[in-house]
Amino acid sequence: MSRSNVIVLFAGNSEPSFVFPTAIATASSSAGGQSSIGGRPSVPSKPSGMSNSSLVSKRGIDDLDFFIGDEAYANAKTYQVHQPIRHGVVENWDLMERFWEQSIFKYLRAEPEENYFMLTEPPLNPPENREATAEIMFESFNIKGLYIAVQAVLALAASWTSNKVTDRTLTGTVIDSGDGVTHVIPVAEGYVIGSAIKHIPLAGRDITYFVQQLLRERGESANIPAEDGRRVAEKIKEDYSYVCQDIVREFRRYDEDPYKYFERYQGENTVTGRPYTVEVGYERFLAPEIFFNPEMVSSDFLTPLPEVVDTVIQQSPIDVRRGLYKNIVLSGGSTMFQHFGQRLKKDLSSIVSERLAASEAASGNLARSSGLDVNVISHRMQRYAVWYGGSLLGSLPDFYSFCYNKHDYEEHGPSIVRKFSVFGGV
Ligand SMILES: Nc1ncnc2c1ncn2[C@@H]1O[C@H](COP(=O)(O)OP(=O)(O)OP(=O)(O)O)[C@@H](O)[C@H]1O
Ligand SMILES: [Mg+2]
Repeated sequence: MSRSNVIVLFAGNSEPSFVFPTAIATASSSAGGQSSIGGRPSVPSKPSGMSNSSLVSKRGIDDLDFFIGDEAYANAKTYQVHQPIRHGVVENWDLMERFWEQSIFKYLRAEPEENYFMLTEPPLNPPENREATAEIMFESFNIKGLYIAVQAVLALAASWTSNKVTDRTLTGTVIDSGDGVTHVIPVAEGYVIGSAIKHIPLAGRDITYFVQQLLRERGESANIPAEDGRRVAEKIKEDYSYVCQDIVREFRRYDEDPYKYFERYQGENTVTGRPYTVEVGYERFLAPEIFFNPEMVSSDFLTPLPEVVDTVIQQSPIDVRRGLYKNIVLSGGSTMFQHFGQRLKKDLSSIVSERLAASEAASGNLARSSGLDVNVISHRMQRYAVWYGGSLLGSLPDFYSFCYNKHDYEEHGPSIVRKFSVFGGV
């Protein structure tokens, strides 16, 4: 489930105008298609010609009684909160349509008829979902034009901000780690290599739980009001944690001089207003360490992230591997830990050089050790990399020519959106 959904407003901006969870609260009985599995029925092969349908005439006025985003949670007592998107994929189209409706009219205050829209999708999104999206955008909202971009490709584009213009490559390995899941996605010239993608079931939420557990074990949680436990752990994770380069050495440093490394978190009881203090210790470096030593929190997923990245690249076609090692790009909130990229580079480089050494020894050919360039790109737009990549590509002068417009849609039907051309790279 995606916790936050980033709305792209006006391409070319460097900060999102709104960031809110993909939640929608409806008056409890009108869950709108929640009961029909998958929500929207399959898309008809040609447009159904309801181009002028206004949302109000299509649904009763009652249907306008709903909230989205943070407002949805704020109304959770009297309304029913739903998540139209699960694991990055739209599951309830009726709710999704309403979510988009408020995003466009109430938040962006944009006239759909006058705007081109860029939407994003996760890799391996079913093509039927693209069609359903296009149907809503063109038929319900009557938008001017549409481009659906793959999130990983936008994350690659976002990293251009750290490069020279000549390095605008759309080949690289994207590591996207959010709240619920971490993906490792190889991309060659703007196309995702679907067969080699891997998911890691560890991400931000797991790190927060782990911090909570560590605080409990050190007796610190006694200082934290129970209802704030999760929020405080998340804050400690975001504000004080970092990735160390060597866990044994880090433990030794802390043990030798705890005062130097321990921090203090100052909180305030949300109910009584009374202040409290939490001592932050080993959590600082242990929290994100679960990426590198997952056995600390998981008994079924045991492969360290650098090893997953190596496997993903090894399973990609041989002619793109060099480019995939050379451009490993970080994206999403849970890649924000300090020194994350540095550690990943270090561990991955040693996996790669061990393999090279082994194969050279086996072949008796020692002259081949020209090595392989392993590069991990950290950059200032990493937190909202997908959004930023979208803003960047959407502001290119030729963006419009890669969109489908209403006329294309009417002429060819929804299946036209199964394929979009890649653009922007050099
Ligand atoms: N500075 C930070 N350091 C570490 N973690 C952070 C930081 N800022 C945000 N996070 C974490 O990033 C996560 C949210 O990231 P993101 O917005 O990329 O996720 P998402 O796209 O909503 O979720 P998903 O991709 O799993 O559906 C949360 O767990 C949050 O605590
Ligand atoms: Mg995400």
